[in-house]
Amino acid sequence: MAYGLLKGKKGIIFGALDEQSIAWKIAEQAVAEGAQIVLTNAPVALRMGGIQKLGEKLNAEVIAADATSMEDLENLITKSVEILGGKLDFVLHSIGMSINVRKKKEYTNLNHDWMHKTFDISAMSFHRLMQTAMKHDAMAEWGSIVALTYIAAQRVFPDYNEMAESKALLESFARSFGYHYALKNKVRVNTVSQSPTWTTAGSGVKGFQEFYDYADKMSPLGNATADDCAAYCISLFSDLTRMVTMQNLFHDGGFNNMGMNPAVFDLLKKEEA
Ligand SMILES: NC(=O)c1ccc[n+]([C@@H]2O[C@H](COP(=O)([O-])OP(=O)(O)OC[C@H]3O[C@@H](n4cnc5c(N)ncnc54)[C@H](O)[C@@H]3O)[C@@H](O)[C@H]2O)c1
Repeated sequence: MAYGLLKGKKGIIFGALDEQSIAWKIAEQAVAEGAQIVLTNAPVALRMGGIQKLGEKLNAEVIAADATSMEDLENLITKSVEILGGKLDFVLHSIGMSINVRKKKEYTNLNHDWMHKTFDISAMSFHRLMQTAMKHDAMAEWGSIVALTYIAAQRVFPDYNEMAESKALLESFARSFGYHYALKNKVRVNTVSQSPTWTTAGSGVKGFQEFYDYADKMSPLGNATADDCAAYCISLFSDLTRMVTMQNLFHDGGFNNMGMNPAVFDLLKKEEA
């Protein structure tokens, strides 16, 4: 059900790769709520073709941008403002990639060149993006910027590997930049800490099925789906959350506040049987 929460708003959505992507669901819901959007992803992702289909369906322009390239980001931001016919009301950062995770490297034996790349793509890109938007004065007053993160920034999840540090950095950028952007023109910046979700990035984590099942049992509401996450992000883009900024917001069915849930024993019993 749509409420017209984003009627007349304009935004950029990073990170829709395929129908599983959390950004895909957010793009769909944003348009259903009345927004006009530009879709963007890395050039290699554009070649896979899924995002073009989404662009056609949502009547949205697709612009390639490697989130580690200042040149690409400049082009994306200036073109988007032009295409959308005005400043941006919201931006979604939904980007994560780690070669160490992909190659299933152990945490105590990581390749540090790849680690640089991980931090650049998954975290520094958030700062690059906000710096570029600020430089071009591209955000409307009371605009909203959201990045997706994971609780491994605060707690140890061994197989999440160096993405844990990446998310800690990402969340810190949200707080620090959020301060500056609030002063500049009341733009709010938050991170949403989402449950494990079956996507290309998610399922690349070693033992993802166990990860997913454990979180699902531990959370009294169960895991939040990508559609649930989209609905929450829409609320953060809307005018209903104007005073929320510099926060890491858990969207995980209660997982982050649990110590122990007897339901987890069902999983263990199943394994033993
Ligand atoms: N899936 C989960 O379990 C989960 C849980 C919590 C948070 N998240 C976060 O949600 C976000 C979206 O991930 P997802 O699960 O939807 O997976 P996904 O694989 O669909 O999305 C990741 C996106 O990052 C893009 N990307 C990679 N390198 C890029 C670059 N250099 N420039 C621009 N874009 C680039 C990919 O093309 C892809 O679209 C990520 O930040 C991820 O860490 C995911």
